[in-house]
Amino acid sequence: MNRTFSIIKPDATKRNITGSINKIIEDNNLVIIAQKRTKLTKEKAEGFYSIHKDKPFFNDLIEYMTSGPVIIQVLQGDNAVENYRKIMGATNPENAEKGTIRKEHALNIQENSVHGSDSEENAKIEINYFFEDSEIFNN
Ligand code: CMP
Repeated sequence: MNRTFSIIKPDATKRNITGSINKIIEDNNLVIIAQKRTKLTKEKAEGFYSIHKDKPFFNDLIEYMTSGPVIIQVLQGDNAVENYRKIMGATNPENAEKGTIRKEHALNIQENSVHGSDSEENAKIEINYFFEDSEIFNN
């Protein structure tokens, strides 16, 4: 059992498809053990994506991620990091496999509906960036 961090992004909250995304998550044996609807501040989004600060898409990414509400989540299950990355599909929905969240729901490489941690180490950092231990409840 391990954990990963997930964001359902503004393009998905705007189109009212967060339930469809959660269904894919739950159908693939990940348990949502923490979940919060919130709106990222510029500072919070910049801190979260600081690894991308030198990328040409950074400013657009911050503008987009602060453009509407997001759902932040902690997911738990066997190989949670790897499993969720498989369920999300490729960053660019054009390259994502059929049945993945991004293939079914994402609009383009930026408005790609979901974020998931890319390693166990980053999952811990990202979970701690958004959640207190007291907000996370195992089954
Ligand atoms: P995410 O997995 O949250 O990590 C970084 C985000 O930056 C990514 O999903 C996309 O939303 C966005 N992103 C990544 N690559 C590009 C790109 N080439 N152009 C625009 N946005 C991108």
